[in-house]
Amino acid sequence: MSSNIVWHQAAVEQSERRAQHGHHPCLVWYTGLSGSGKSTIANAVDRMLFERGCHTYVLDGDNVRHGLNKDLGFDDSSRVENIRRISEVACLFMDAGLIVSTAFISPFQEDREQARELAKGYMIEVFVDTPLSVCEQRDPKGLYQKARAGQIPHFTGISSPYEAPEQPEIHLKTSELTIEQAALKVVQYLEQRQIIA
Ligand code: PPS
Repeated sequence: MSSNIVWHQAAVEQSERRAQHGHHPCLVWYTGLSGSGKSTIANAVDRMLFERGCHTYVLDGDNVRHGLNKDLGFDDSSRVENIRRISEVACLFMDAGLIVSTAFISPFQEDREQARELAKGYMIEVFVDTPLSVCEQRDPKGLYQKARAGQIPHFTGISSPYEAPEQPEIHLKTSELTIEQAALKVVQYLEQRQIIA
């Protein structure tokens, strides 16, 4: 970090934003293989929260890689940098008082732990647990087929590792749940934690 930089205190306090929004800010971190259903579930939860009047936003892997992170590839160090930037951006959204959801493969445990540290007790890790065989069968973007044919290097689950969370707050076994049931589990957890009323 550069020297001669001094943190500027914001005029509007976090507690004021909480009171105005009627909920606590938090980071709902979805992790899972490509095609596991992260974005679908994150958006279903987001819709439910939005309709209850919560202030929310979803940061999605494919979308963020079109802009902020379009300079990054899929080798290990690019993925580390991808998740580092997302963690920082997500914390800015939290600072703005939002319930921010992130839908990234985020394959490395250590990177997710760093996000957790930044979120200061308000990160909820959601493991979207869909077996590789199922993701590969779905193959919604045809990427697994290309990866098996050797046309995509460093493909998660095929030629690049995925470290499953050991103790996620929420474990969604997608083969046993509909999208609606999975989303409800997340919303109910937020209620139990008193993040939303
Ligand atoms: S990561 O690992 O968190 O940095 O990845 P992420 O930013 O979530 O991007 C995942 C989406 O990028 C597409 N894609 C790949 N995924 C995995 N490995 C390789 N090599 C790759 N190349 C492109 C893919 O569409 C992922 O989207 P999802 O929504 O996860 O299926």
